[in-house]
Amino acid sequence: MEKYLLDDIKRKVGERTASKCDKRHNLGHLQNVTKNALTISKEHSTDTALMEAICYVHDLTYTIYDPGIKTYFLERKYITWILVGFLKEFDISGNEKNIIINACGKHTHSFPFRRLNKKGDIYTKILQDADTLEDFDEERIDSFFENLPGFLSPLKRLFKRMIRPRFINFFLNLPRY
Ligand SMILES: [Fe+2]
Repeated sequence: MEKYLLDDIKRKVGERTASKCDKRHNLGHLQNVTKNALTISKEHSTDTALMEAICYVHDLTYTIYDPGIKTYFLERKYITWILVGFLKEFDISGNEKNIIINACGKHTHSFPFRRLNKKGDIYTKILQDADTLEDFDEERIDSFFENLPGFLSPLKRLFKRMIRPRFINFFLNLPRY
């Protein structure tokens, strides 16, 4: 993907996330997912600009829909519909559009459902893993539990000390640890 197209996509995603987005899907989250994805990409043959573009658009759902159970379970449909429209604004090839839509449409539910893409293309695998690694990030775990009742805080400790270190590979397409 051409650099100017990536810059254009990042600028437009930035505008959308600035006008509406929750804390767990904001620009900081997109940057962290991108960082994870580019680290994994070094071990594979990928177009890094395309990979970065995928990371930036993967959570556009939350610039339109509020987080919640319904959005969580319909996210695959929502992001596909959104991207079909959003990507028309950019002069990118049909093949690249298909890769972006496919990766973003299949990136959800790795944890806890382990709906992985082991047989998927490399962009789909990397995006999903990069997002999952973010889910297992210390600060993100804290932010998940901060809106829950205090009596659930032992679960947070259990997740950080037991589940994350022992089972993270189980939820990745490309095990890393
Ligand atoms: Fe995400």
